[in-house]
Amino acid sequence: MGKITEALKRVTDDRVARIQRKPETQYVVRKLEDTNIDAHIVSFHDSSSPIAEQYKIVRTNLQTLRAEKGYKSFALTSAINGEGKTVTTLNLAISVAHDLDHKSVLLIDADMRKGKLAQYLGIERSPGLSDVLKGEVQAEDIIVSPNIDNLSVIVSGKMPKNPAELLGSKKMKSLLTSLKNKFDYIFIDTPPVMPLTDACTLGSLVDGVVLVIQASRTQRGVVKHALGRLYQAHAKTLGYIMTNIEYHLPHYLYRYVQEYGGYKYAYKDEDGNGGKKKKVSQVSR
Ligand SMILES: Nc1ncnc2c1ncn2[C@@H]1O[C@H](COP(=O)(O)OP(=O)(O)O)[C@@H](O)[C@H]1O
Ligand SMILES: [Mg+2]
Repeated sequence: MGKITEALKRVTDDRVARIQRKPETQYVVRKLEDTNIDAHIVSFHDSSSPIAEQYKIVRTNLQTLRAEKGYKSFALTSAINGEGKTVTTLNLAISVAHDLDHKSVLLIDADMRKGKLAQYLGIERSPGLSDVLKGEVQAEDIIVSPNIDNLSVIVSGKMPKNPAELLGSKKMKSLLTSLKNKFDYIFIDTPPVMPLTDACTLGSLVDGVVLVIQASRTQRGVVKHALGRLYQAHAKTLGYIMTNIEYHLPHYLYRYVQEYGGYKYAYKDEDGNGGKKKKVSQVSR
């Protein structure tokens, strides 16, 4: 193999390794006992933590869209798999459900192939959306309550042979219309855009799409391509949520957060020479 070919192969291998790499830092802070809900759902386990605050910022933006434009249904997707869609959708939905407005929130797992919403909530994944769309059960029978005030959930259901066709069916459209009349907010967790058409189909049925992007992994070109696909499907992309980003707080801000948030975190020196910057210590599971 020539030197150039070798170098090109190395670059390609590096890129593939980066895409396949799982996030190294697990951002679990605290886990409540007596619940099956996964510790990554920080908005549930530790709603006053700085990480949960980030979801509240997005919540505020969505509430503004609802108040100003009447948007109430949102699909969360990403360009490729494993960027944090499910964790983000769950945290966001719980954050909205926790708000003092007491709005009713419905969370739907429309990732019929690899849906993990049920797993994160510690509940059964069936019966769910696919079973209703196949006409095997009634919609009212699959709406479950995961013991979180104001939150209802529709899990993905048994894996069907034709998820794309089911999501694009008239039945899906009418189901969403009737659910929109019953709930104040609907969040839909979808499969990624690049390998499948499902997210684009769903994107065209909701008021807006939020793209989850995992930092240091998904390439700009891939994100642009995904955005192009959503655009072609007439889905309205409202914005982005970056995942896998660490907090770097300047010292003065760190003290401010600690004093005013009444919240104690384990911080550690990042630079090791006087500690001008502090980094949130993330606790692994
Ligand atoms: N904000 C985040 N920061 C760091 N890692 C995250 C974040 N959100 C999710 N993850 C991690 O990314 C992995 C995939 O998350 P998941 O939500 O299941 O992805 P997807 O639904 O896009 O396939 C999990 O290990 C999860 O802990
Ligand atoms: Mg997922």
